[in-house]
Amino acid sequence: MTIETIPTAPIDGQVPGTSGLRKTVSVFSAPGYLETYTQSILNAISPQGAVLVMGGDGRYFNRAAMASILRIAAANGVARVIVGQNGLLSTPAASHLIRKRGANGGLILSASHNPGGPKGDFGLKYNIANGGPAPEAVTDAIVARASQITHYTMTTEDAPDLSECRETQLGDMVIEVVDPVADYVALMEELFDFDSMRRMIADGFTLRFDAMHAVTGPYATEILERRLGAPAGSVINAIPSEDFGGGHPDPNPVWAKPLYDLMLRPDAPDFGAASDGDGDRNMILGRGIYVTPSDSLALLAANAHLVPGYRNGIAGVARSMPTSAASDRVAARLGVEAFQTPTGWKFFGNLLDAGRVTLCGEESAGTGSNHVREKDGLWAVLMWLNILAVRKCSVAELVRDHWAQYGRDYYSRHDFEGISTDAATRLMDRLVANLPALPGQQAGELTVTGAEDFCYTDPVDGSVSTGQGVILTFDGEARAMLRLSGTGTQGATLRVYLEQYAPPGSAHDQDTQTALSKVIRATHDLAQIEHFTGRHAPDVIT
Ligand code: G6P
Ligand code: ZN
Repeated sequence: MTIETIPTAPIDGQVPGTSGLRKTVSVFSAPGYLETYTQSILNAISPQGAVLVMGGDGRYFNRAAMASILRIAAANGVARVIVGQNGLLSTPAASHLIRKRGANGGLILSASHNPGGPKGDFGLKYNIANGGPAPEAVTDAIVARASQITHYTMTTEDAPDLSECRETQLGDMVIEVVDPVADYVALMEELFDFDSMRRMIADGFTLRFDAMHAVTGPYATEILERRLGAPAGSVINAIPSEDFGGGHPDPNPVWAKPLYDLMLRPDAPDFGAASDGDGDRNMILGRGIYVTPSDSLALLAANAHLVPGYRNGIAGVARSMPTSAASDRVAARLGVEAFQTPTGWKFFGNLLDAGRVTLCGEESAGTGSNHVREKDGLWAVLMWLNILAVRKCSVAELVRDHWAQYGRDYYSRHDFEGISTDAATRLMDRLVANLPALPGQQAGELTVTGAEDFCYTDPVDGSVSTGQGVILTFDGEARAMLRLSGTGTQGATLRVYLEQYAPPGSAHDQDTQTALSKVIRATHDLAQIEHFTGRHAPDVIT
């Protein structure tokens, strides 16, 4: 094997965010950019003799990037790379493969829900041996290596074609191309009662799954249509495309509007769901009802014991800080631990590894369990289908029954997108500086009862993460959280998360924005959102 050494230098901005390094394709495909970052990752781990999993969501630049990564891996002494056929692996399937094969780690090529194509985004994320996103200690090591890098090495040979499931060599390194779907489906069959779901569908239960032209198409077609018997066409937009059909593969009411609109019609199917670019996010709908991700987590926690994989109950539930408190109420009733972590799936890893929690979820449409170390869109869909098959009721009945028992946490996220980084930083800095003075203060019709700059101490390893967003609590069980997005590639996005609890017996059928109007006004006043962003209303409401 001939190895070439190519000089390089630290590149500004090669710092992973909430979920790996995410940049526009134009930035990532600049000469040496991907190669320098890949070498920085390998410099931070021990590549010699390592087994790595590699896969991506099929977006534009995946193919070229994989060819370069393989050549760099071979030159750095990696022993084996297990890669999904045609380079495809959903993020949860990659996590499972890392765990199943006892790999040292994995490289996931995706910018998740961000648009793809030559003008879209690209991303590269390193996962560790537990199958989960690298924790801060590892990402910090990658950043440190990236800031000192002087060269990268590559084999001169071309990387092989990845379209056939087979083993090949690149220099001394083995490349094993595997079916991206098979192992994942086998895991789902262990966790869920496929027979009862199959019976429910045979009895006339209808569903629509929107794969949004992204990676879950092949997985959903295999599971929902072939194994569970949903009629052909139940899975739509099922062929992964390099630019996601020109769409924005984010499963929420804004970007998955056709499905959302369909589900609100009287002739809608019984169940609707969608997943994102790399298959880790989910959106759940029933006929006439959209289930917020926060409510979905709470409902899954309350009903998990009905699903074979969780029949012995759950150890605990973790949610990210801006996710509503609905799951805390379920944990309290079950007598299990509830955790509030910073935004980012990586913060769940230690809790899952230590057996402290079984289920995790985030307001950003992520739900998952200890079966892998990533959130998992199709898993969430199967949880819902399995629970519906046992409870034999509609999505709307299940949700309303839950609210009747636990109360409803009205919840919404308001995004102010593409604002200047400077204005966003000034807004947050001012708010943080004012926090000590806020408790007791009147804001609109509400009184502030608490104001906190969220800092998390990991209960397992004691590591501390500061500056994770602001939490404001108000009288009448209202809460608002503010933070800046860590996944964008242009300017800054201010996220404002709003929550109002309505206890059992109170009105549960109000319009969400109306139910939140007091906390919206109070938050705008306290954070001076209009003054700093120049916007009166958010760009996106989820
Ligand atoms: C990614 C991560 C999630 C996180 C989300 C937040 O999807 O995998 O764990 O919740 O980003 O994104 P944001 O843009 O709010 O930082
Ligand atoms: Zn994703």
